[in-house]
Amino acid sequence: MNLAGKTICLGVSGGIAAYKACALTSKLTQKGADVHVIMTKHAAEFVSPLTFQALSRNPVYTDTFDEKHPEKIAHIDLADKADLFLLAPTTANLIGKLANGIADDMLTTTLLATEAPVYIAPAMNVHMYAHPAVIRNMQQLDDWGYHFIEPEAGYLACGYVGKGRLEEPESIIRILEQRAESVRDLTGQHVLVTAGPTQETVDPVRFFTNHSSGKMGYALAEAAADRGADVTLVSGPTQLPLPRGVKRIDVKSAEDMLQAVLTAFDHQDIVIKAAAVADYRPAQTFDSKLKKKDGGLTIELERTTDILQTLGQRKQHQFLVGFAAETNDAVAYGRGKLERKRLDAICVNTVGQAGGGFQSDNNEVIYLNKEGKEKHLPSAAKKQIANQILDEIILDMEADRK
Ligand code: PMT
Repeated sequence: MNLAGKTICLGVSGGIAAYKACALTSKLTQKGADVHVIMTKHAAEFVSPLTFQALSRNPVYTDTFDEKHPEKIAHIDLADKADLFLLAPTTANLIGKLANGIADDMLTTTLLATEAPVYIAPAMNVHMYAHPAVIRNMQQLDDWGYHFIEPEAGYLACGYVGKGRLEEPESIIRILEQRAESVRDLTGQHVLVTAGPTQETVDPVRFFTNHSSGKMGYALAEAAADRGADVTLVSGPTQLPLPRGVKRIDVKSAEDMLQAVLTAFDHQDIVIKAAAVADYRPAQTFDSKLKKKDGGLTIELERTTDILQTLGQRKQHQFLVGFAAETNDAVAYGRGKLERKRLDAICVNTVGQAGGGFQSDNNEVIYLNKEGKEKHLPSAAKKQIANQILDEIILDMEADRK
């Protein structure tokens, strides 16, 4: 990401590495970023707010109640206008507060209010970094979609040598430039994503389902939210944590998913159907547990409604994207579905082989659009594939507008 023109909120908390945040502010400003520094009270014991004010050429915030502009509420204004939040250095205390939803100062209130991607660069004593509470809190933040810039190993101000030293400002900037998918190019867009399997009830103890973990759909929802979209995730049963900034509607059956999607559909701009929806459900569901008997058992199945096809018939302005899980002739089957269901694009993934598909953390996708584009997205983490899919969707939507 090019940092020029980006609004970056830099949160500085109270550790000796706060001095490195001065160089960071200066380098980010030289890159053309508009840097707004928020300091904790303890950070101001190490470095004067005036230093950051001079380096960023912006007011520095230390107190939630010090409202510099009466027409705005400072922490909400900063939270909304940030393209990116960087916490450097981040103490164990700040990590703990954020992981537990504590908002008791200017920095933590702004952090809870922002929907911008947050990059956390920890710095602390080596034993603090290894403490189970700190590890648990970092895991929680990671699950919520916060990004970590790992501390370096080396000489620490406390005299120990080990992991805990704040990454150098040049490296932090390089990581942001390489890693941040934080272009807020979906701001103002409503995106609906479906994810996970459906469960089709047979009796009170049994149901039909499939192998979908929901990882692909959740990665899409998280990536779209990172890029500024207002995201609704209609999710079948999964074990996954809710990505930050995403609204989730939980469903079980294909019929539940159909109703949830139809209710939300009209005001969406982009709809991506990554869920693995059952094509069939039991024609009859039993109120009490089916008892086993000698011989076989036949359960009659009936078709579920094809949600994607229904949306294809109903769509007006929406950009509609399907997924196709195929075991063979993936492109031909995918293109068939794209045309039959009146989609704008379809992401074909081959299931049942290494490198992607159900359950895997990675996926490999061929993005097909209605104009005949066929773009191969080689195997990568589902979050990365999600961002590449969004890149293609945005390109196609821009082309449609011309
Ligand atoms: O969840 P993961 O473990 O991460 O795995 C990801 C995935 C493999 C499930 C995902 O990448 C994927 O391919 N999802 C679609 C799987 C699927 O149901 O494919 P399909 O070819 O059967 O259906 C085609 C499209 O029609 C899909 O967009 C599906 O959501 C939709 N559909 C299908 C049936 C139905 N009744 N209604 C639908 O809307």
